[in-house]
Amino acid sequence: LDDLLAEGVSGRRVLVRADLNVPLDKQTGAITDDGRIRAVLPTLGALTEAGAKVVVCSHLGRPKGEPDPQFSLNPVAGRLGELLGTPVHFASDTVGESAQAVVAALADGEVALLENLRFNKGETSKDDAERGAFADQLAAFGDAYVDDAFGAVHRKHASVYDVPARLPHVAGRLVLREVEVLSTLTGDPERPYVVVLGGSKVSDKLAVIEALLPTVDRLLIGGGMCFTFLKAQGHEVGTSLLEKDMVETCRNLLERADGKIMLPVDVVAADAFAPDAAHDVVPADGIPSHRVGLDIGPETVAGFAAALRGSAAGGTANARTIFWNGPMGVFEMAAFANGTRGVAEAIAESDAFSVVGGGDSAAAVRALGLDEKSFGHISTGGGASLEYLEGKTLPGIAALEN
Ligand code: 3PG
Repeated sequence: LDDLLAEGVSGRRVLVRADLNVPLDKQTGAITDDGRIRAVLPTLGALTEAGAKVVVCSHLGRPKGEPDPQFSLNPVAGRLGELLGTPVHFASDTVGESAQAVVAALADGEVALLENLRFNKGETSKDDAERGAFADQLAAFGDAYVDDAFGAVHRKHASVYDVPARLPHVAGRLVLREVEVLSTLTGDPERPYVVVLGGSKVSDKLAVIEALLPTVDRLLIGGGMCFTFLKAQGHEVGTSLLEKDMVETCRNLLERADGKIMLPVDVVAADAFAPDAAHDVVPADGIPSHRVGLDIGPETVAGFAAALRGSAAGGTANARTIFWNGPMGVFEMAAFANGTRGVAEAIAESDAFSVVGGGDSAAAVRALGLDEKSFGHISTGGGASLEYLEGKTLPGIAALEN
């Protein structure tokens, strides 16, 4: 971005790809966590101050290639305007008449937001020509392109991959910071390096576990995905989330892990997946057949905290580097939030350099009222940060380097 600013952007149209894919309340449609909007402000602020005509585009959710009001970016335009302290002109389509009129009317230093990119089939198409045709229409709105959508750099989508091939292109402040931070984890992180993984599915985390095992000192596993590992250890998991076809893979990982993987020793098991369901703490090897595990238990939290903060009794050293992705339980329900809170607090209290990866874990930090400043870095990318740590080539980064 500094290179582009140095060239001078006053009066030029700058197309910014942002990741404004924020969670919305299912009932009211209100934005429940605006972290991703705030994360893009440094880039947008620098461009408006320099007098650019800023055209912002983003996806929201996963609409099916056609307009779908529940995924409109309109509420985001309002919040973005409040945070920027200047009204944001909203286009009610992405590249159609409204967008063309809004972009044409932009004055220097003003900001426009286009409607959801994924209301157009071309955005996510696997067909190069279809994506390219949509990228041509988008690129017509800019004299230069800034990618500040770290959360989407792992997607080979028109706005991420094809537009930079058509315009002078640079990384925004957020993308640069994310890559700088995550590259310290894939480089030579200070040890002990402890990774905490949660979330619902093992299948989503398999590649990152494979990539991390040789480099981490400890891998702590909680969340819905822990039950497939517990099953692989020979325990019954009741009606808890289980990926049957992954049990063998998990057994194999445990055998190869050289004792680095720590699993829950107790869990909070409930009668139903409901906020008011009756529940108890049970040993991880004693989950009753009719119960569902919805959180890690207090003994597990204490064990994980000792691995993160160090414990003289346990003979473990303070972690020096921590990466955390995925909640430890159903933290949206107060009865099952203690595991996520306990682990998040242990990370916040540790003096390690800590990176929180992912939409859900970042949202958990804010929803639980923890101080964001107690973490080294809160990534805006869920899938993107995992794929970065896997060492994959990310289409959006490759396109910028090209
Ligand atoms: C995310 O939420 O991880 C990003 O916004 C990417 O969204 P996607 O998984 O729908 O591509």
